[in-house]
Amino acid sequence: MTNSDAHPLVARLDALVSQAASAVAAAVDLDSLHAVEIELTGKRSVLVEAKKQLGGFDPDERREVGQRVNVVRSAVAELVESRRAELAAMERRRQLDADRLDLTEREPVRAGHLHLVTQARDHLEDVFVGMGFTVAEGPEVETDFYNFEALNLPASHPARGMWDTFYVELGEPGTVLLRTHTSPVQIRVMEATEPPIYSIMPGRVYRRDTADATHTPVFHQIEGLVIDKGISFADLAGTLDAFTRAYFGRQVQSRLRPSYFPFTEPSAEYDISCVFCGGAGCRSCGGTGWLELGGCGMVHPNVFAAVGYDPEVWTGFAFGFGIDRMTAQRSGVDDLRDLFTNDVRFLEQF
Ligand code: PHE
Repeated sequence: MTNSDAHPLVARLDALVSQAASAVAAAVDLDSLHAVEIELTGKRSVLVEAKKQLGGFDPDERREVGQRVNVVRSAVAELVESRRAELAAMERRRQLDADRLDLTEREPVRAGHLHLVTQARDHLEDVFVGMGFTVAEGPEVETDFYNFEALNLPASHPARGMWDTFYVELGEPGTVLLRTHTSPVQIRVMEATEPPIYSIMPGRVYRRDTADATHTPVFHQIEGLVIDKGISFADLAGTLDAFTRAYFGRQVQSRLRPSYFPFTEPSAEYDISCVFCGGAGCRSCGGTGWLELGGCGMVHPNVFAAVGYDPEVWTGFAFGFGIDRMTAQRSGVDDLRDLFTNDVRFLEQF
């Protein structure tokens, strides 16, 4: 664009563009680019100097030089901006590289293993699957209907107090909750399938308990449900006894004691002979010779009504017990909280 009759300032301005291109390209980081930018466009730059002189020029000169100042200024600004974007991207990449963990330096890599409770749950599932059961799961956030209502626990039923419930702030107050037991999965399985049913339902459950050596507000249960024609209480006792021997060993016995649950009738507590003293009585079983595992009973007709099964045709039983307490006992863990505080020194022992 240089032209011999042009004003000498125009030549200097044109030269500035190529100087700017190499100076900007030579800036290696945002700070040095900033310094270059000041040199090119700051108070002592040719651009500002040319602008100052405009006032003393005649109109033609002023137009020529003035236009050139504008063209050069935006050319320089464009160079600086595109280099700035480039440098910012480079800096970001450098930052990311610096933040990346070099895992190859950590040696030797230690392999973890399944949590004690997961191991127990897997083992329980294996034993029941071996007995012909299928495994079903359900949501941990439940509605009042599945957790209580359909299980023959209508609103204000006094037995609701057996389960201290965490409610979720969703919908109408008191309608959405963290399931207090795995029994709502019974209802879901019955709704989804026609009998016969031979299913177990393991999972996490929640109760408003203060954590201590024998309670945690989150724990695990495994539920069992059998529905078929002609199922009797003897089938329930026989199934639990077969399970007890398969899981705990031939020498361990089971017994049922009368109890109460709204969703079963009759209901029973399921105990096993103490795995530590063989039934003689020791500290672990409080001298009774028995360990309490959970509850069971024959499915209540009102539960069948809630899912639309004909109680004249189908009968069945259900049982449910806690996995954590049983596992802790078996492994000699005397404080349930240790299962969930995730101290690797504790967990790696099992
Ligand atoms: N859901 C009961 C509880 O958590 C246990 C249970 C399950 C009892 C099935 C009977 C039948 O206490």
